[in-house]
Amino acid sequence: MIGAPDQPREEATVVAICTSRDQLRLALPPDRRRAVVMTMGALHAGHAALIDAARDAVGADGHVTTTVFVNPLQFGPKEDLGRYPRTPEADIELAAAHGCDVVYLPTVADVYGPPDAPLSRTGITVDPGPLGTLWEGAVRPGHFTGVLTVVMALLQQTEPDLAFFGEKDYQQLTLIRGMAARFTIRTSIVGVPTVRDEDGLALSSRNAYLSPSERALAAKIPAALSAGQRAAVLGADRAVVIETVQGMLDEAGLVADYVALTDPDLGESPLMGEARLLVAVPLGTTRLLDNVPVWLKGVA
Ligand code: PAJ
Repeated sequence: MIGAPDQPREEATVVAICTSRDQLRLALPPDRRRAVVMTMGALHAGHAALIDAARDAVGADGHVTTTVFVNPLQFGPKEDLGRYPRTPEADIELAAAHGCDVVYLPTVADVYGPPDAPLSRTGITVDPGPLGTLWEGAVRPGHFTGVLTVVMALLQQTEPDLAFFGEKDYQQLTLIRGMAARFTIRTSIVGVPTVRDEDGLALSSRNAYLSPSERALAAKIPAALSAGQRAAVLGADRAVVIETVQGMLDEAGLVADYVALTDPDLGESPLMGEARLLVAVPLGTTRLLDNVPVWLKGVA
């Protein structure tokens, strides 16, 4: 049965909780098709959709692991590492309700090696390349180095056939796909569409930081993206699509860090055909990211 992501599924089972790399190694069945969903916890219906997609892909005989790890390496010195929401009990419950087999809650030493082991403290990281310096990478220097490094480490520890990531973080998903291609990683990287609240706002653990008035204003972001999509379908060119989004944000008093129109792999946008529209908007003490597919009709 495929249920709504915020509803528990029928196949809810007993979930194994692994809090160390050794426990994880023993819990992973070598002979079953395995999927992994990587998260930083504070799980919501967006994460649940990834777990559901993982379960659907590997089937009832397959094995699904959810990792919950707030990765210090991807936070800047002035960012929210210390106050990032941590809800491990609720996370385990949600993962179990969606038929996850293992929840892996490692420590920093489990992920990156013990502090006293010289070889795990060499400072080696994965370089995200030029794409890692644009958009989110420009606002958050070093962020994608931290993301790719933890994803690489967790792929090594979980050795999955499939790994699921949200389109919500489109630049992250694209860079992970790029890393997998570059290093011939045997895991298939699967993207899952963004899960939204009723008013269109993309679900995010960081939405918890919004005050009620900020939360109401935040719905203008998906509304602006929808307006951009509609303009494109009606024949607007690339500049007009961006102006449409920017105009709606301006009207709402929102100032975007960027509004970008690209091709689906984050290269230069085509004049017509499939494209991607991405925004990031600081609001209160957080930043909200969103993106949608766009079909550019092209100028007649
Ligand atoms: P986190 O923000 O917890 O997100 C975990 C996964 O859930 C990511 O793949 C993200 O894109 C996806 N996700 C979040 N909100 C979503 C939504 N509304 N709809 C669909 N998918 C959604 O992204 C990270 O953690 C980290 O950077 C991580 C990849 C785990 C590395 O530390």
